[in-house]
Amino acid sequence: MARVNALLVLGTRPQFIKSAPLIKELLSRRSRVSLTLVHSGQHYDPEMSSVFFSELELPRPAFNLHVGSGTHAFQTATIMLHLERFMKKSKPDIVIVPGDTNTTLAAAITAAKAGLRVAHLEAGLRSGDMTMPEEINRRLTDHCSSLLFAPTRTAFSNLTNEGLRNNARLTGDTMVDAMQMALPSVIRAEEDLLRAMQLKEQNYVLVTLHRPSNVDKPTRLREIVLSLKRIAKETTVVFPIHPRTRERLRSLAAYIRRDRGQMRIISPQGYIETIALLKNAACILTDSGGMQKEAFLLRRPCITLRSTTEWPETLTGKANRLIRDSRMIPAAIAQARSLSIRHKRFSNPFGDGKASQRIRRILEDELSH
Ligand code: UD1
Repeated sequence: MARVNALLVLGTRPQFIKSAPLIKELLSRRSRVSLTLVHSGQHYDPEMSSVFFSELELPRPAFNLHVGSGTHAFQTATIMLHLERFMKKSKPDIVIVPGDTNTTLAAAITAAKAGLRVAHLEAGLRSGDMTMPEEINRRLTDHCSSLLFAPTRTAFSNLTNEGLRNNARLTGDTMVDAMQMALPSVIRAEEDLLRAMQLKEQNYVLVTLHRPSNVDKPTRLREIVLSLKRIAKETTVVFPIHPRTRERLRSLAAYIRRDRGQMRIISPQGYIETIALLKNAACILTDSGGMQKEAFLLRRPCITLRSTTEWPETLTGKANRLIRDSRMIPAAIAQARSLSIRHKRFSNPFGDGKASQRIRRILEDELSH
């Protein structure tokens, strides 16, 4: 049977993680898919990009479009222009687009308009909040894709409700596969990591924030920092800082330094380090989609600083709580920490760690000529 030529376009930190197990599966000996990787260059700092390629043992992409930072229109349009040329030459059987970033949308539209088939990895997520760029990206991507890999039943039924059932396949979530692959390395590394950072198991709060709705407005960001400083009076707060947030925090540098207590602002961490920090944290405060889910999988209580989530499954058993008012952060964290001991057992709605295998088979069955 002829091989399937697939082009996978990625460019941001969460895309490297969710694609890693699928890339490995498609490059394995059992695969009948020939894979080409293109990096958009949306994330370009070594700590946002190359560290993931080395930790997750990913091959070097065939091309890097070096789009860099810019407005949404700039990023989307520049990626489209470069990819259009590339796709014309390489004529893949299918273009795989993971997640919900500007890179995802740009690749999906370009491929669909070039008459190519598009497969969306992590299809069907909905936060219902169209002010989030990711919600626009994921909805539009789903509607121009011909194969929709839904990570959960909820995602599958969202697709059904939008008339996309024929294209939808319930596969499970490749981030479960990624975590299962990484856990042995995490377990080997965690003790040294905690010692080097002078952290004690379940004795610190892990914070990540990068959503425009939280970090782009100085007044909002200042209120959040004030709450973090309150927590840091009593507990260690570990805050690996996303470049967008680092940029915005510059003007608050003097304010942060004053009475910062046990707040530690550190550079963005790699995947193994992040999972190790999550696994050992007393509690997580985040606005990331992926971290909510990783906290859930690792049974760590999570507070999400947003009013909506595209991962409603994480709200089961109070494992994750949404809050919007930043003044509520200290109380919510105190409550989550006390809950953590009673953190219940629940079935995993995100799959069994075999999503990548299923996706490979679907690609082979549906595209082999
Ligand atoms: C993007 C995604 C978001 C995802 C996040 C993960 C979109 C619309 N958003 O947001 O869904 O959750 O990635 O990190 O695609 N910067 C650097 N170095 C880098 C990358 C970015 O310094 O390697 C800085 C730049 O100042 C840039 C800012 O971070 O302007 C924001 O980067 P951008 O790619 O526009 O969006 P993210 O906030 O990273």
